Amino acid sequence: MRKPVIAGNWKMYKLVAESVATAIALRPLVANANHCEIVIAPPFTSLKAVADRLEGSNVGVAGQDCSTESKHGAHTGEVGADMLKDVGCSHVIVGHSERRQYYFESDAMANQKTLAALENGLSVILCVGETLAQREGRNAESVVRGQVEGGLRGLTSTDLARIIIAYEPVWAIGTGHTASPEQAQEMHAFIRRVLAERYSAELADAVRVLYGGSVKPDNIAGLMTKEDVDGALVGGASLDAETFAQIVNYNA
Ligand code: 13P
Repeated sequence: MRKPVIAGNWKMYKLVAESVATAIALRPLVANANHCEIVIAPPFTSLKAVADRLEGSNVGVAGQDCSTESKHGAHTGEVGADMLKDVGCSHVIVGHSERRQYYFESDAMANQKTLAALENGLSVILCVGETLAQREGRNAESVVRGQVEGGLRGLTSTDLARIIIAYEPVWAIGTGHTASPEQAQEMHAFIRRVLAERYSAELADAVRVLYGGSVKPDNIAGLMTKEDVDGALVGGASLDAETFAQIVNYNA
């Protein structure tokens, strides 16, 4: 049985005070949610304050990105995976479509970041997903296969245990057009087949595959009925503690 993961990505929203206020509001609202793991990803500047406020709770903290470089050095503007670990992160998001689209990140970079994160003891939420044009051109599966294989290049079976995949179709992010539970299931099952080819059916079976893209309190339960949907990576609806808590408590 895979334990679901419900993760919130705050993107470039919230100053420190607002981040802390949201985290403090969220903590009691999800305190009894034992059915899933909960992670939130505040902006870098809020990580330490949020992690401090969530210490001892069932809510983990993630960075939204990390450097490809795993060692300290002259890399202006970069944040190393060990620095995320140092301020209390357990996870890091890698390869988000906004990083790929607007900051030209490649699968090779996502792979370097993944390796740097694992080396520094973080779990990785590796994001994959096709654009609308790619889906309409019937290339969704080959694109996602390339992102999964490219992102995980060189990872051992042991490493795979610390990987979560987030399938976030670009056409569903921030658009209100969520994938149907059937569309999500189809791609999640495909991702698991790709993992099974590369590793083994048993190892692939243990990997959590999250869905992301316009997840809201009113569509999470439908998505979670699908066999290969093991949780969600939530953007906009994670910014409000009550709304995010409703998503976490989808089974209530
Ligand atoms: P929305 O939930 O706002 O569509 O964002 C999804 C996302 O990009 C999470 O990483």
